[in-house]
Amino acid sequence: MKKLLIGLLLVVATETQAQDAKMNAFVSNLMGKMTLEEKIGQLNLVVPGGGTVTGSVVSQGVDDNIRKGNVGGLFGITGPEKIRKIQDIAVKNSRLHIPLIFGLDIIHGHKTIFPIPLGLSASWDMGLIERSARIAAQEGTADGLSWAYSPMVDISRDPRWGRIAEGSGEDPYLGSRIAEAMVRGYQGKDYSQGNTLMACVKHFALYGAAEGGRDYNSVDMSRIKMFQYYLPPYKAAIDAGVGSIMTSFNDIDAVPATGNKWLLTDLLRKQWGFKGLVVSDYTAVNEMIAHGLGNLQTVSALALKAGLDMDMVGEGFLTTLKKSLQEGKVTLQDINNACRRVLETKYKLGLFDDPYRYIREDRVAKDILTPANRAAAREIAARSFVLLKNDRQTLPLANKGTIALIGPLADSKNNMLGTWAVSGDLQQAVTVREGIRNVVGDSVKILYAKGANLTDDTTLAKNVNVFGPRAEIDSRSPDVMLHEAFNVAQKADVIVAVLGEASEMSGESASRSNLDIPESQRTLLKALVQSGKPVVLVLMNGRPMTITWEDANVTAILDTWFAGTEAGNAIADVLFGRYNPSGKITASFPRNVGQIPVFYNHKNTGRPLEGTTFQKFKSDYLDVPNTPLYPFGYGLSYTTFSYSDVKVSKQNPAGNETITASVTVTNTGKYAGEEVVQLYLTDPVASVTRSVQDLIGFRKIPLQPGESKEVSFNISTENLKFYNSNLQYVWEPGEFIIRIGTNSAETKSATITWRK
Ligand code: BGC
Repeated sequence: MKKLLIGLLLVVATETQAQDAKMNAFVSNLMGKMTLEEKIGQLNLVVPGGGTVTGSVVSQGVDDNIRKGNVGGLFGITGPEKIRKIQDIAVKNSRLHIPLIFGLDIIHGHKTIFPIPLGLSASWDMGLIERSARIAAQEGTADGLSWAYSPMVDISRDPRWGRIAEGSGEDPYLGSRIAEAMVRGYQGKDYSQGNTLMACVKHFALYGAAEGGRDYNSVDMSRIKMFQYYLPPYKAAIDAGVGSIMTSFNDIDAVPATGNKWLLTDLLRKQWGFKGLVVSDYTAVNEMIAHGLGNLQTVSALALKAGLDMDMVGEGFLTTLKKSLQEGKVTLQDINNACRRVLETKYKLGLFDDPYRYIREDRVAKDILTPANRAAAREIAARSFVLLKNDRQTLPLANKGTIALIGPLADSKNNMLGTWAVSGDLQQAVTVREGIRNVVGDSVKILYAKGANLTDDTTLAKNVNVFGPRAEIDSRSPDVMLHEAFNVAQKADVIVAVLGEASEMSGESASRSNLDIPESQRTLLKALVQSGKPVVLVLMNGRPMTITWEDANVTAILDTWFAGTEAGNAIADVLFGRYNPSGKITASFPRNVGQIPVFYNHKNTGRPLEGTTFQKFKSDYLDVPNTPLYPFGYGLSYTTFSYSDVKVSKQNPAGNETITASVTVTNTGKYAGEEVVQLYLTDPVASVTRSVQDLIGFRKIPLQPGESKEVSFNISTENLKFYNSNLQYVWEPGEFIIRIGTNSAETKSATITWRK
């Protein structure tokens, strides 16, 4: 058996070598014919404007530049007809007929929009997440694209940062598994298939640790912290075979990522062995001027020498590299290396075999926004919701009686898709009001009132309305709206209040210093609570919010993130018990903004607080507990689960043994449900300070009422490893605490001793 496996591996290795040799020969031959200008042209990635633009600059004279061989790829345009016309220019009218690559921000779906990534991550369901990326690839390629700027795997412990919405939260282990699932979903086994996309893991690196949660801000972090908590998801994407990686805007150790040789060459290429394409973020090369590293020529040379291959939008490479070569600031080898990687990427995408591989006009009608894709979006959305509170089993709602459906997000198509849905059609989105009607028909009487503006703050509204109306201010006065809502509430058995953020209150350049539900909506909610009726808060949000007041005062809270095209249907499915919520949050919810950063895998300090009440000379706050409002991994179900004690197969393992740790989980309630069983590890004594616990495994299991299942995890020394002071990835013998439970704050444990 072992021999057979080795034989098989050898065959695969030889095949890969042969394919690589073929690719190298092809690319070398092509490069032999290229002028210096044409080589530099391949490094130029442009955005023609009129599409999705995320910076203040758009590229000019694109057609002419393509003809001259000055463009390697484009992004921000969709549709096979348009893309064919542009590909025609490159393939028919440029000297060497080199095809272009077409990219786009396909982030959580292309036209069928899935929940925002933070929501998807809350499903803890890798199969589901992979499926969402697979459908996105199907739709994206049907629309003429071959390259998706996703997954974003930046770990973030700071919900003020608007882009926390685009990632998988605070944990590197879960983040890594999701990174792999996304790459598998987009790329399949081989991204030259015509219906698979090349993925682009971003933003390398540490973008999620921007100081103060302010977008694009500086990052300064110890190496040990990077390696332990922030770098693993990028590495996981690379190990899963991601074809490309995007640099981040921030500096790292005082050098912007885009010009950081340690990051792009020493770590990425040499240590991690990445062979794919490195692209800058939008004008990130040029932005090094403002970072204070010199003029455009200097920063462009710096980026190339650091290991950047493609320059997004800024044209610093295009306009300065020739001069830098003449002045000896870069070498021909530097330019050749980058050009080779762009051409290799095109080769791997199959574009030299068929430049029109991704351009199939007939696929648009067949593959985009199909009923099957929408059905998947509905199912995936329902599985991303997190039940944060459910007093007196208020949820699920009965299929009868009268419901007051209230709130500025209850019937707002404009806010359903969430941030970064650049190809999503808002008109296709299902609102909560529509979804409830679809699910319960006439069996329930629905009384609707908007009740409040998303915000009454006209400046905030203007800031979030940059891509179109998201937070419109009603022509009626707040008082009139409030009155209407209160009257409606009086007539109902239960109030469903759909409140939260506008979709563009999170995402890029959407950081907030106040994470409350905006004042206008809080006032509405207070009035609704005063009516004495049960209040179900359906929250829409791109980040953990400070909902301490809401938690104390409303009856039930369902967190639905921004759930995408099928949002309303999925929300109705969950509200009325068609699906029992099973999501768990992947970023801690702070009690107030002053607690940030608050995250589960923190260090102990030398003066840890025991319990939750303030103690003098302990590491704590005078005015707020250390614990978050909701801890990482938290989420309720309509049913309840009980956990047995943790059983380990061996108390004293040694060396390379593998042991198992198991629990029996029982569904002790009335509904069928799914539970995310989480495995954490504590390493109480080590040569460096460790976090109080780290997630090292999880499993999502379905359980019928009364059913029990044993869940068993394998644990080996791989799970015990961490980075020591020399940045070696090691495990140290001694005692370990294995914790298994329903969230990071509620676990049962067993202690073992692992000998050398
Ligand atoms: C964002 C990237 C995105 C790029 C292209 C940038 O502003 O940071 O995440 O992929 O624009 O749209």
